[in-house]
Amino acid sequence: MIRLTRPFFSDDESLAVTEVLASGMLIQGARVAAFESATARYLSELAAPPLDGPVHALAVATGTNALELAVATVPRAGGAWGVTDRDEVLVPTVSWPSPGHAVCLAGATPVLVDVDLDTWCIDAEAARPMVTARTAAAIAIDQFGVPADVPALRAAVGPLDVIEDAACALGSTLRGVPCGLTGDAGIYSYHPRKVITTGEGGMFLTRDGARAERVKALRNHGQSTPGTFVCAGPNARMSELHGALGAVQMQKLAVILSRRRALADELRAALPLRWQRAPDGAVANHQTLGCVLPTPTHGTLVEARDALLVALRAAGVEASILSYALHRLPQFQAYAVNRGRRFPVADRVVDGGLALPLHPGMTSADVAVVIDAVRAHAQWAFGR
Ligand SMILES: Cc1ncc(COP(=O)(O)O)c(C=O)c1O
Repeated sequence: MIRLTRPFFSDDESLAVTEVLASGMLIQGARVAAFESATARYLSELAAPPLDGPVHALAVATGTNALELAVATVPRAGGAWGVTDRDEVLVPTVSWPSPGHAVCLAGATPVLVDVDLDTWCIDAEAARPMVTARTAAAIAIDQFGVPADVPALRAAVGPLDVIEDAACALGSTLRGVPCGLTGDAGIYSYHPRKVITTGEGGMFLTRDGARAERVKALRNHGQSTPGTFVCAGPNARMSELHGALGAVQMQKLAVILSRRRALADELRAALPLRWQRAPDGAVANHQTLGCVLPTPTHGTLVEARDALLVALRAAGVEASILSYALHRLPQFQAYAVNRGRRFPVADRVVDGGLALPLHPGMTSADVAVVIDAVRAHAQWAFGR
């Protein structure tokens, strides 16, 4: 079976983990610090023109933790932080549910917004009318590594805090700005489907020093220094085992990205499907190779897509659905603001969405198998 994705590991990762075990130092020490500084350095070097001031990259246990900390540190009047049950936060409705959950768990209301038909990221014009006096922040998701047009979102929603969920977008850029840094705060995930992986893991990113200090305390039980508790906080620390994996994976990032981009170019050129598109001035990392299928002549879009998934699997190709429609999930329908509204683009992307295998370990023979299988089973979807 040609897997949808596979981590790109070698003996280097095994060695790094073995060294941590031998060191006896297991939680948030030198390896986590090395992973954080490698990330901050990489982002500073990637930016063109160069960034003004430092990048703060703070490792945490999961990408979801990083989102929760981003929501908990939305800057408020009078030096306060976070959101309350009086606040609303705009969230694109096509996503893994974590960004919406982070808002719910903070007690605020997630206000769902439709996505753009080409990029599958938040539609700035759909966001504009959803802003009220209660809106405290907007979350933009770089869908599958394609940068959300954060400047367009800012122009539409005004001076709100923008949290960039760049879970999938390490290595992508928008008009020279690295994804993760296009908003006021950003996050990465290192889940195994992401461009680099630490098993579980996440990174909080900001260029705001005060916000970074707040997150440093929050992620560690609310301690500013060991034993000094300044606020209530979770334990969201990253372990040294994960930090060591991350530091090694960062050394491979350039190779991983160039391989992903080459494979994506090859598959996209060979298969005339409706592929995800990046906005003007964007460079994507191709974390996922996704397309939206056209409405079939018989049956529903979901039936046609699911039949194709089964056929591809039988041909040895592990394809999958793309994502989820948050407006169909009970935890988001529980908020009156999300009920009775329509999200036509999201429905189309979620019902017709298909992800094909793409990972740096794929061989030319694997690519040929994927191309042949799609050609054999999805002719109906070509050129429509
Ligand atoms: C867009 C997005 N945000 C957040 C997350 C959560 O990341 P994690 O699994 O590291 O908690 C994911 C995970 O798949 C994601 O795709």
